[in-house]
Amino acid sequence: MAKSWSTSVDDLHLDWDPTSGRAGLADALRRAIRSGRLPRGTALPSTRALAADLGIARGTVTRVYTDLADEGYVRTRQGAPTVVTAGEGADSTPPVAPPPVERPRWSLFPGRPDLSAFPRNAWASATRKVPARSPVSAFDLPDPLGVPELREALAHHLSRTRGVVADPDRIVVCAGYSHGLSLLTTALRAQGLPRLAFENPSLWVHRDIATAAGLAVTGVNVDDDGLRVSDLTDPAVVVTPAHQYPTGVTLAPHRRTELARAAQQGLLVIEDDYDGEFRFDRAPVGAVQALAPERIVYAGTTSKTLAPGLRLGWLVLPRFLVHQVRSVLETGTRGVVGVLEQLVFAELLNSGAYGRHLRRSRTKYRHRRDRIVAALPEGLTPRGISAGPHVLVPLPEDGPGEADVLRAARRNSLELLPLGPHWITRAGQTPLRGVVVGYAAPSDHAFEPTVRALTRTFADASERSGRPIRP
Ligand SMILES: Cc1ncc(COP(=O)(O)O)c(C=O)c1O
Repeated sequence: MAKSWSTSVDDLHLDWDPTSGRAGLADALRRAIRSGRLPRGTALPSTRALAADLGIARGTVTRVYTDLADEGYVRTRQGAPTVVTAGEGADSTPPVAPPPVERPRWSLFPGRPDLSAFPRNAWASATRKVPARSPVSAFDLPDPLGVPELREALAHHLSRTRGVVADPDRIVVCAGYSHGLSLLTTALRAQGLPRLAFENPSLWVHRDIATAAGLAVTGVNVDDDGLRVSDLTDPAVVVTPAHQYPTGVTLAPHRRTELARAAQQGLLVIEDDYDGEFRFDRAPVGAVQALAPERIVYAGTTSKTLAPGLRLGWLVLPRFLVHQVRSVLETGTRGVVGVLEQLVFAELLNSGAYGRHLRRSRTKYRHRRDRIVAALPEGLTPRGISAGPHVLVPLPEDGPGEADVLRAARRNSLELLPLGPHWITRAGQTPLRGVVVGYAAPSDHAFEPTVRALTRTFADASERSGRPIRP
């Protein structure tokens, strides 16, 4: 039986090399069908959606579908989705690999941008330009802190868009924020720092990085104004001021002042500006780093703007840390982002292509945010909606719990992240319950079905838990 909805391009998991053209795409689909990953009855994405998401001509996809229909792999019919028919006269080769663990069809998992919107053309054109115009010396081992062209481009971009006090000498290019945090915590531990405070709640993955570097991790609570700065007792803290992860609150002006004052008096602050580019209601609040650049490390990443797979981020360091971080890099990997990728990203920054991509993404995510907020049932009030691209949906005390919602999400093939694991638990505390809804991940054509899966999930959790969400 054909399903009445189409598989999203993300769910195809195509092992496809963009340079292999029409024949390569047909092969990738054949392999997916033969291995059982696309079982009989699966509706493939429309030619328009697949072409848009793969960045190829629609005619190419149409011809591939026609070829596969001729070979008996799929059935195409005017006005209806193309459906897998393998086994009904198609290649009878036995499956070459066991089917993978079933992944949810829809995802609202925070942390991923819309990967189908990756600016392939801009990246490809920069990739052509860079090697052609670079001197031979560009291919040599780089400065471990990063290539000068990128550090200059970042200094300009960050001071213009985020108000960061950034000269190239204090910028380090790293493999995403996680790598930057690992470098920093290693350097700080080597300098004798014993403990690092994190916001409570915060991303446990980052706390684990600090623990792995030998630091004791503590938690400082977050309220409606953000980090409770006056509760800090440790010598250093990691903060997400623009859009606290995961609660979504923006650090209130009086708390920013308090944090900057504490930094000027010796506190070391690591400002994780992971999604500072996405502010919807007004111009983004500038980085706190500018208020105490010799005590605040500014950290950024392309993981939310371009793709987490790039592994590309940056630190803007207080001067006293530049030498320490350089030492960690020199005794370790000598930097992990390849020279050419650094130069390509510098070209994207300098040509304005990155800025255009950010503006397009901001507009799209704002619409998506509105849609998600409108789709929530009465009785659920999201937090952190003024910036993106995630909101926190707290669950009422007398309604379904996180486990109820996650079970309902599984029944509706939806990937969601509960708030629970973000807490640094303390005995006797009953932390807020909720789910973190990241609305950037779906591709455009998968977004509406994903919103419907979310609506069904809350209705389902409400009904089956016996603890309905009341308006
Ligand atoms: C709070 C927070 N900071 C930073 C990042 C980016 O991490 P990375 O650059 O290592 O991908 C993420 C990604 O999920 C995040 O949730």
